[in-house]
Amino acid sequence: MIESDPIRNYLQYTQEVYGDTLYKSDKPEEPKQNTDSTKSLKEFESEINTCLKCNLGQSRTSFVFGVGDPNASLLLVGEAPGAEEDKQGFPFVGRAGKLLDKILAAINRSRENDVYICNVLKCRPPENRDPLPSEVELCETYLIRQIELIKPVLIVALGRVAGKTLLKLDEPLKAMREIIHDYHGTPLIVTYHPAALLRNSSFKPPTWEDFKWIRKILEGAG
Ligand code: URA
Repeated sequence: MIESDPIRNYLQYTQEVYGDTLYKSDKPEEPKQNTDSTKSLKEFESEINTCLKCNLGQSRTSFVFGVGDPNASLLLVGEAPGAEEDKQGFPFVGRAGKLLDKILAAINRSRENDVYICNVLKCRPPENRDPLPSEVELCETYLIRQIELIKPVLIVALGRVAGKTLLKLDEPLKAMREIIHDYHGTPLIVTYHPAALLRNSSFKPPTWEDFKWIRKILEGAG
């Protein structure tokens, strides 16, 4: 396993997304309201990041726990890390992740600002195959604990696989969209996976509609 250096990984990740300039917000840092959840999320990560409950633990480079604001009102959940995420140790750092960052910027958020991003599975399935039900069964408890710690107002499942896995529904994405579902007591909506937008740009307008709706739901809760 490659040794995980969070600072190096983070700098590599910001270089991927923003280029060689290191941006620092000129806004004064707001004090975190709930440092307990930061601490407990970190503690939880160190408790589980050596997990070998399923075979994916043998083949992973990194355990991809999640990234973002530990007190976020918006939690985005993808299906599983891909090759780049496995290499860097952070979710959504490839091309799809860069598009996701742009979508978040369009609703005045970022992964540092009131958003947390993770996946149903914390380890990469070989050849990016869909998660197996047995893997989901073992790994979903981690996601449920993350939700208990973060206490988001809204969960957004990115893509059909994340949606159907969390909702235990075998439906096409279109049938799961535009509905407020319930996931263990937290409202959940399903939208397109950013990788799908890269493959088919006709999915961009409905995704933008979803994110305008997401912004409205969060503003209503704020
Ligand atoms: N796709 C996902 O579902 N998750 C990632 O982290 C990257 C790509």
